[in-house]
Amino acid sequence: MGVITLVLILLAAVLAYVVIWVQHRRQQHAIFSRLGIPYVPPHLIYGSNHILRGSGKITIDVMGQWLQQYGKIFGYYIGWKPTLVVADLDLIKTILIKDFHNFSNRPKLVIDAQPVVNTLVGLRDQRWKDVRSVLAPTFSMVKMKHMAGIMNEKINVLIKIIEEKSGKGEAVEMYSTFQGLTLDVISECALAMKTQCQQKQNKDELFKAVRGFLKNAINPAILLALYFPYFASLMSFFSNRLALSGRMTRMIIDHLEGVIAVRRRDINSRSVDVLQLMLEAAESRYQGSEGDKDCIKHKLLTDEEIIANAWVFMLGGFETTANSLTYTAYLLATHPEVQQRLYEEVCSISKVEKSTRDAGAMSHQGHECHGGSVSTNRHQ
Ligand code: HEM
Repeated sequence: MGVITLVLILLAAVLAYVVIWVQHRRQQHAIFSRLGIPYVPPHLIYGSNHILRGSGKITIDVMGQWLQQYGKIFGYYIGWKPTLVVADLDLIKTILIKDFHNFSNRPKLVIDAQPVVNTLVGLRDQRWKDVRSVLAPTFSMVKMKHMAGIMNEKINVLIKIIEEKSGKGEAVEMYSTFQGLTLDVISECALAMKTQCQQKQNKDELFKAVRGFLKNAINPAILLALYFPYFASLMSFFSNRLALSGRMTRMIIDHLEGVIAVRRRDINSRSVDVLQLMLEAAESRYQGSEGDKDCIKHKLLTDEEIIANAWVFMLGGFETTANSLTYTAYLLATHPEVQQRLYEEVCSISKVEKSTRDAGAMSHQGHECHGGSVSTNRHQ
C-alpha cells in the first residue's frame, strides 16, 4: 500500500470520526428541544459555558438575562451536559423537599479528583447520606458554641487590625482581610491548624496556597475534560497523581495525619474542634447493633474520609464566607442608615447580655458595644 493511500485512509478515518462526533454531540444537544423546554442555543463544543463564564462576564448577570429571555424554567448546556435552571419557587420546594430523594446527587464531578471524591461534595447516593448523617451533628448549635472562643479570638485580631489602620487614616482592603479572618477561623476549627493569615497576609504559606488553588480551579485541563468527556478519565489519572501532590492539599493532608496520630496517642492533646468531633463521631458508632453477631465492626468514616472532609470544609467555607462578609460590609458602608440600625440592635443585645452577665446569671463571651462603623472611600 502506497503512502498516499495510507494518508487517504487516515484522513477518511479522521473525517468519519469527526462526523460521528458531531452527530453524537448534536443528539446530546437535542434533549431540551425534544422535551419542549426553552433553551439557550448551544455552541457545538462549549454549549453555553463560554457565555456564562467568558472573560469579563458576570455569571449572575448572564443568568438574569436568560431568565428574562427564556422564563423561569429553561435549559442550557455546559459542553455536552444539559443543565436545567429552575426559578419557580413552588417547583424548587418540590425538588428540595418533597421529591428530594430523587435529587440528592450533585452533578458528577468533571474529573474524579482526590480527595474531593471522598467528601460530601463528591459522594453520591447512600454513601453521601451515611457520611452526611455522621457529620451533620458536628455542626449543631451546641457544638458550634464550643468553637465560639476560637472565633472571638480571631475576630479580636480583625478589630485590632482595622482599628490600627483606620487610626492612621489608612484604607483597609476588606476582601483579603476577611479572607484572612475566614481562613484563620476555619484552619483552627476544622484543621486544628493555628494560622496568622490576617496579620501575615502575603507571608502565610497556607493562605498563599489556598488562594492559588482557587485561582486555578478552572483551568484548561478541566475545560478540556468538560468539553471532551473522553479526556476526563485521562485527566482523573493525572490529576490524582498531581493533585495529591498539590501544595495546598499536601500541606493539609500531612498536617492532619500528624494531628490525628497525636490525638489517638495522647488523650490530653484533644481539643474542641471539628476534627475532634469528626474523629469521635466516626469512632463512637458502628454499623449494626451491639449484640448482633454479624454486626460490622468498622468505623463509620475512614481516616481518609475524615481528612478529605476537613479539607472540603476548609475550601467550602473559605471563599463563601469571605465573599459574604465582604459584600455585607460593602452594603453596610453604602447604606449608612441600615448600618446605624444594625449598630443599635447589636448595642441593645450587648447591653442585655452585659446586665445578664453582671447579675451572674450566665457566663457569656460577648463583646461590649463600642463606637465603630464601616465606610467606603466614597464616604470618607
Ligand atoms: C456564607 C457562607 C456559605 C455559603 C453562602 C455557602 C453555600 C453553600 C451552598 C449553596 C451549598 C450547596 C451547594 C450544592 O448543592 O452544590 C453548600 C454546601 C456545602 N457547604 Fe457551604 N456555604 C457557606 C459556608 C460554609 C462553611 C463555613 C462550610 C464549612 C464549615 C461549608 C461547607 C459546605 C459543605 C461541606 C457543603 C456540601 C454539603 C453536602 O453535600 O452535604 N459551607 N454551601
